[in-house]
This record gives sequence, C-alpha cells and structure tokens, in this order.
Amino acid sequence: MTEPSASDLTLEEKASLTSGADFWTTKAIERIGLPSIMMTDGPHGLRKQSGGTDHLGLASSVPATCFPPAVGIGSSFDPELIERVGAAIGVEAAIEDVAIVLGPGINIKRSPLCGRNFEYFSEDPIVSGVLGAASVRGVQSQGVGTSLKHFAANNQEFDRMRASSDVDPRPLYEIYLRGFERVVKDAQPWTVMCSYNRINGVYASEDPWLLTQVLRDDWGFDGLVVSDWGAVNDRVAGVAAGLDLEMPSSGGRTDAQLVAAVRAGDLAESVLDTAAARAIDLVRKAGERPAVPGPLDVDAHHALAREAAGRSIVLLKNDGDVLPLAEGQKIAVIGAFATEPRFQGAGSSLINPTRVDKALDELRAVGGDDVSYAAGYSVAGGAVAASGRSDDDLRAEAVATASAADVAVVFLGLPAAEESEGFDREHIDLPADQLAVLDAVIEANPATVVVLSNGGVVALPFAGRVPAIVETWLLGQAGGGAVADVLYGAVNPSGKLTETVPVRLEDNPSFGNFPGEFGHVRYGEGVLVGYRWYDAKGLDVTFPFGHGLSYTTFSYGEASVSVAADGDIVVRVDVTNTGARDGREVVQVYVAPVASAVQRAPRELKAFSSVALAAGETRTVELVVRRQDLAYWDVRVDRFIVESGEYTVEVAASSRDIRSSSTVSVEGDVVSLPLTMNSSIGDVVAHPVAGPIAMAALGGLMDGLTGADSSAASMMPNDEAMEKMMASFPIGRLIGFPGVDVTYEQIEQLLAGANAGVLAQS
Ligand code: BGC
Repeated sequence: MTEPSASDLTLEEKASLTSGADFWTTKAIERIGLPSIMMTDGPHGLRKQSGGTDHLGLASSVPATCFPPAVGIGSSFDPELIERVGAAIGVEAAIEDVAIVLGPGINIKRSPLCGRNFEYFSEDPIVSGVLGAASVRGVQSQGVGTSLKHFAANNQEFDRMRASSDVDPRPLYEIYLRGFERVVKDAQPWTVMCSYNRINGVYASEDPWLLTQVLRDDWGFDGLVVSDWGAVNDRVAGVAAGLDLEMPSSGGRTDAQLVAAVRAGDLAESVLDTAAARAIDLVRKAGERPAVPGPLDVDAHHALAREAAGRSIVLLKNDGDVLPLAEGQKIAVIGAFATEPRFQGAGSSLINPTRVDKALDELRAVGGDDVSYAAGYSVAGGAVAASGRSDDDLRAEAVATASAADVAVVFLGLPAAEESEGFDREHIDLPADQLAVLDAVIEANPATVVVLSNGGVVALPFAGRVPAIVETWLLGQAGGGAVADVLYGAVNPSGKLTETVPVRLEDNPSFGNFPGEFGHVRYGEGVLVGYRWYDAKGLDVTFPFGHGLSYTTFSYGEASVSVAADGDIVVRVDVTNTGARDGREVVQVYVAPVASAVQRAPRELKAFSSVALAAGETRTVELVVRRQDLAYWDVRVDRFIVESGEYTVEVAASSRDIRSSSTVSVEGDVVSLPLTMNSSIGDVVAHPVAGPIAMAALGGLMDGLTGADSSAASMMPNDEAMEKMMASFPIGRLIGFPGVDVTYEQIEQLLAGANAGVLAQS
C-alpha cells in the first residue's frame, strides 16, 4: 500500500484528523490505512491510563518508574544523565506502545510560588534549554516522540487557562523563548504543546506570531503543534495560526467548525491540508518504531532512578563536615517524611511508581540499630487527627530521640496538598508545626542536619542555626535510597541550585506582579529574572543560583578564553579535586558585556559542565559559549543583536563564587538604522559615515554654545556636561539655535548621504 497522504482525504476527514479521538489518542482512518497513536504524560515517567482518563492525575495509570521530576534532576546540570533517563522513559513508553510522551516542560521559574515549578528545570533559559534538549534526545532515541511544553510564557497556574502574560519583547525572547528555541533547534522534538495562557492578549493556541512566525519560520520547527488539553479557544483561528492538533477530542464539534469555515471561504483548505499532513507525518514517524515486547526491567530502571536521585541532591551547607554520617554514630531520624516520602508533584505528571523507597528503611539498611526514629509531626499537618497524638506529644518524643543521638537528621518539607498543578502557593514557608519541631530539636542537639523535600523553593529561616542542610527537592521513587547514599557518603553530592533560594518572598523579582489581576499578569521585572535580579539589585540571598557543596573540594586554575572562527567563545580551565574523595563539580561560565546599550544583568550563565574528578585529579574542562547566546533582542530592528566590545567571562562554582575572571573582545553585529531629522546628535556623531562630517560641522557649535557670553552654557558645569546634553538633542531641531551655522538643507544632505552610505559633498 502507498503511504497515507492528506491528498487522499475528504475535507471532513482532514478536519477530523486534526483533533483527538478521545483523551489520549489520535483518530485512525482505516480507509487510507492510517492507525491511531497514543500520547500520555510525562515528563518524569509514564502516566498511561488504562481505565478512567483525566489530566489531573486523578484516575490510576499503569505502574511505571517515577524518575526525579525536573526540579530534582535539573540540579545535576548534567545533560548526559538526563538523556539516559529520557531513554529509559522512552523504553517504558515503547513497551506500553505509547507514541509520544508529553514533556519535557521547560518553562522558566519566574516566581517560587508557581504550583508547577517542580515540573520545570530552572529560572535560567540556558539551563532549561540545554537540559530540555537532553530530555528530548533521550526519549526520541527510542523512536518515541516528545512534546515540548508549555509554549509559551506559562509561568503560573493561577487562572492559567485565561490569564494573559504581558511580557515585553526583550524578556519574551531573551528569557521566556530562549530555552524553547534551544530545544527546537538542537533536538527537534516531534511535537510542541502550546500553553493555555494568552501572551500579550492572544491565546497561545491561536497566535500566528508564536506558532508560525517564531516557531516555524524563525526556528525551523517542522513537527506538529498540539494544544494543551483543553487549550483551544477558537479552533478555526487556531488552525489558521499554526495549531495542528486539538486535544483532547471535541466530540466532532470543532471539526465541524473547520469544515464550515473552509466551505465559507474563511479558512483556506490548504491550511487544513498542512495540519492534516503533519498529523499523518507524526503517525508515520511513530510507526517506524519496532515493537518492544517488554517486560519492563523494573530493577534496572529503579537503579537508574536511584542514581539520578543521588545526582539531584544539593548539599546547601555542611559546616564542620557534620556530613557524611559515619557508621557507628547514633543517628536520630526525625520527621514523618522519612517514612512517608514526598517524591513527586501532583497533577498530570503523577506517576504510579513501580515501588517506593523510604529514607528511614534505607538509612537503617546502613546504620542498623544506631538509627532511631520519631515522627515529630504529621505530613498532612493536623497531628492529632492524623496520628491520634498531639503536637506536643510528637515534639517531646522528637526531642527525646534527638537528645540521645550523636546527630539528628530532621526531614522537613511541603505537604503534597500545598504544591500542585492547577494552583499556586501563597507563601514559601514550611509548615509551622515542622519548624517548631526543628527548633526544639536544635535546642536538644545542635548537631542537626535538615533534609528538605519540596518541589518549589522554601524559605530557610533556620539556615544560620543548623550546621548542615540537604535540599533533596522531589527525588522520584528511589529518593529514599538516594538520601541514604548521600547522608552516609556512598554518593558524594554534586547537585547545584538551578534557582535562587531567596531570603524573603518579597525579594523575588516578580513580587507585586504575580499572579496579576483581572486576567493580566505584567512581567514588570523585565529581563531581570531570578539571579539576574538579585545580582543587579545587590540583594542578599540565602543560597545563590548555582550553589551546591560536595564532600570534597575543588580548585580552579586561571581560565583561558578565546574566540573561535565562528564567533563562539571557548573557555578552558583546569579544575582539580583537592580533597580525599572522588566527586563531581558543575563548572559554570557567566558572561556579561562590559558596557551595553541596553539593560543587562551583571552576569548570565552561558555554559556549564558537570565533571567527574577522582580525588587529586586535575582535568582541563572546555566550555563553549555560543555567540548567539550573547545577543540581546533589539526592539529597533526586531532581531537578536550581538554587541561589539569587551565581555567579562567568569568561571565560577556558583553565581556568587567566581573563581576566575577575564575579558574577551567580541566582534558584534551591525545595526544600521536610517538617520532621520529626529536622530539625536549622539546617533549622528556615532554614525560611521555621517559622524566625521557632523563632528566637523558641529564642533564650532559646541564652541559657540560653551562661550562665555552664552547664557545656556553659563549654567553648564563644563564642556562634558554640554556634550552630554547635546547628545540627545534631535539634529533636525538645531536650526535657528544661536551659534548654529548649519541649514536645514545641509542636514538633509548629510542624512541622505549617510543613509545612502556615501559621503555627502557639502
Ligand atoms: C497539562 C499538560 C498535560 C496535559 C495532559 C494539562 O492539564 O497542562 O502538561 O500534558 O494536561 O494531561
């Protein structure tokens, strides 16, 4: 049989092919031999529902390995690890005959309050883009497609199906779209999922600028655009804008609208042909994957989940080397999370795990009877109701347990009900009853280690009062084992923060502009998102972006920095493991222009590398900063522009632990804007053609204006001040000013000559 093609289809069939058959599958058209394919969530494992269907993780799904969600695995800063996990998810999808896994989600963590931050990688677009691309590569290496989501500027859950993210062009391109661009260009996801929200007033699902101009024309995306589940506002407008597939099924209602629109001449049939052809192409691609019989190697995938979880853990603080714990030490484990682990977020990404490790069991597997336990609090809050014991009773037991131990390990975290898809948090505090237990334990035993389980950043008011803090985020089903690995030192922690831990929520750049009002959220902080803001404002943070400790130490040599023939910046630096344990360091490169025409953050992460180093080993690490990543979005010409000049290149262990700094000279892009009568004198003087002529002609003007009898000049402190004032003076308005010996026609001639690129003869 020949390949199915859109040209074989009737108008009705084409319309029907561009919406789902049900909640998870596309429509088959037997007449042309086109099968149906299945998509399921994602992203950190497979959520294939076999019975009831929903997008909120309510109905059950087949057991699958729950790997660490993006908030965890992102901390590894390691694309190779994420690719391996992606490949494992691809295998599980193939065994279940799932064609597309709905992920990764790479939206920027604009506010720590976003209920879905656990599903996203970072507050930085390069981290999100590089790690998102790795995830796509991994899954797709198994012949299973991905859906890069949620495109775009979907950074909150509040009113997510209607709110308009009102974002200026610079932050939109430089922060919110940059990661998507990276993934599309580097990894070619089979599909992109448009988000629910509006962007500057237009629904993402019906925005031709987003779905066609940016995604396809500018970035070269040639896959299929699928709607988020229920994101279609106006199907006809959506298809015209570049939306190929509506999910889930509309029961034929919106298919009929498409047919009617084509018949009425409101929608070109060729547009529908294109969408249908993309749907067919997707099914064809999925059909190329050979069947994978299974069964799933549950143990092997659990082991990978444990490895990934170990790499996700961030050691925030470790004064006096209280960690790792030593066998033989008496350890008091306090906190119900040690027995009731919080290992993933709620909503559409909820995986039904093949098994779940508990930290207490895993710690006892190493420390045996030396590990005692007290619940301390109830995970769901409301201790009396949950356990039949009062807060006071639980706390007293915790204090007694901690007092009798060498080290107290206190598990704290956010209850599942506090962070989920579909709504945002209202604060970043840990539950008060948990903090009260911690206070009591610290008093009883100052050798207290805090182990955190949370999908979004929490405030750490106790950071100065405990010697050690371990941020485990959400670690997936093998998190309990990974925590034991790190606490007892079988795994040397190497994760680093992909988001800032602020002192107070009020310090966050989106504070006051989140989650917006009356259907609009203004991204008022502009490009200064996350660490860019804290650095620009010189604010203290509890732990900075990029921070994370190890049980060993690393020293950095002087970096050598050069510009390659293609304009990329190549950074080479020797990194040495100076301690006694093998370990991993995430080497980071931050770049900023020394001077810029536009607002810039003091530093922006542009490259990173996770490097394994044996004790005592030195390795030369090479990192490449892509020239294009230096660019800002220039609103005058609507494109990315790399500025010429000196750039500071910092090699760092965190955004606030810079180990080596140098400058490099970059040849930038030329922005040629036509000069007009409204161009400033500064612009004209800076122009390569008009500048020298203007200087000659206007030099006398400055002299005239700064002469002793000029009243304007007498108010000016010096020539420099006068020059500054004149720099923004529109050249066309000079005529008639005292001392100006230039005619309107001469200026016209000067500008015309400059614009024509030839020297005007005066
Ligand atoms: C979520 C998507 C998810 C889809 C299907 C939506 O509510 O936003 O991320 O893939 O449901 O479950």
